Amino acid sequence: MPHHGAKRPPSQAGDAPIPDLHTLLDDLDRTIRADGDWGTPASYIPELARIDPAQFAISVVTADGQLHGAGDVSTRFSVQSITKVFTLAIALGRAGDQLWQRVGREPSGRAFNSIVQLEQEQGRPRNPFINAGAIVTTDEVLCGRAPRDALAEIVQFVRTAAEDDNIHINNAVAASETAHGHRNFALAHFLASYGNLKNPPEMTLGTYFHHCALEMTTAQLAMAGRFLMGAPGGPRLLSTQRIRRLNALMLTCGHYDGSGDFAYRVGIPGKSGVGGGILAIVPGKASIAVWSPGLNLYGNSNKGTQALEIMPKKMNWSIF
Ligand code: DON
Repeated sequence: MPHHGAKRPPSQAGDAPIPDLHTLLDDLDRTIRADGDWGTPASYIPELARIDPAQFAISVVTADGQLHGAGDVSTRFSVQSITKVFTLAIALGRAGDQLWQRVGREPSGRAFNSIVQLEQEQGRPRNPFINAGAIVTTDEVLCGRAPRDALAEIVQFVRTAAEDDNIHINNAVAASETAHGHRNFALAHFLASYGNLKNPPEMTLGTYFHHCALEMTTAQLAMAGRFLMGAPGGPRLLSTQRIRRLNALMLTCGHYDGSGDFAYRVGIPGKSGVGGGILAIVPGKASIAVWSPGLNLYGNSNKGTQALEIMPKKMNWSIF
């Protein structure tokens, strides 16, 4: 029988050979730090505005369960909108496809906290990752529970996903956002005016601000993202179909009006947070968490996006 050169690594002919992940991450950390332009952290949440922007971390869990990392991998940061992935998973478990009557599945092409489409589209947010949509998924998780119990469920989901109980909410960050959360209060009351909140706006928002204030290291976040990889091993928290659908939403909506740019530059699903973190998934292969607090024009991590543009390419990881 003819032999078809079975020894070639899984890269395309002409590509550079796939490097050792440990070396790659160390090199990447050096490259990212060499350029001193760290950018500016989010200013509308005072507790986040105080954070030193000159920080960077990347952690990767591969399908075989190995954890790799470089940079400030033990520093906890505010995961903010990345928790919307976990609350969506819980809300889908709760409401099933009925959730889509309350929130859409289309990219918004607008900033994460925009209100304009909400009026044009009668109080049904475009997708579950913009703030209005995440307030709706939080409202679904809250149904029939006290805020304290809903939060305990969200925190427990994340701890189970990460197999790590040392994950907590930073109450000072939640309080700081509550005191300056005029946009989100406007969004929540607007949703309520269209009958799209089942709980009092203040209760839903209290739950929302607190789950956004969860803190994790990149190592913990990469571990928590394993269930979205759809690889054997690690906790099975969702069906294969739901995993695929969540990844589809992360790709199309996970970076708000920067989602097209992220898909073009990075080529894998990702969810950003205004604390400077990004969780990115290589289906079947890896869960990647990056963090750097300086943001780009879209409110997503500047150096985090840069790192994700470089690293999966070198590994020949793409969904395309
Ligand atoms: O509601 C907010 O504005 C924040 N708690 C979360 C926003 C966020 O992380 C946007 N992502 N880049």
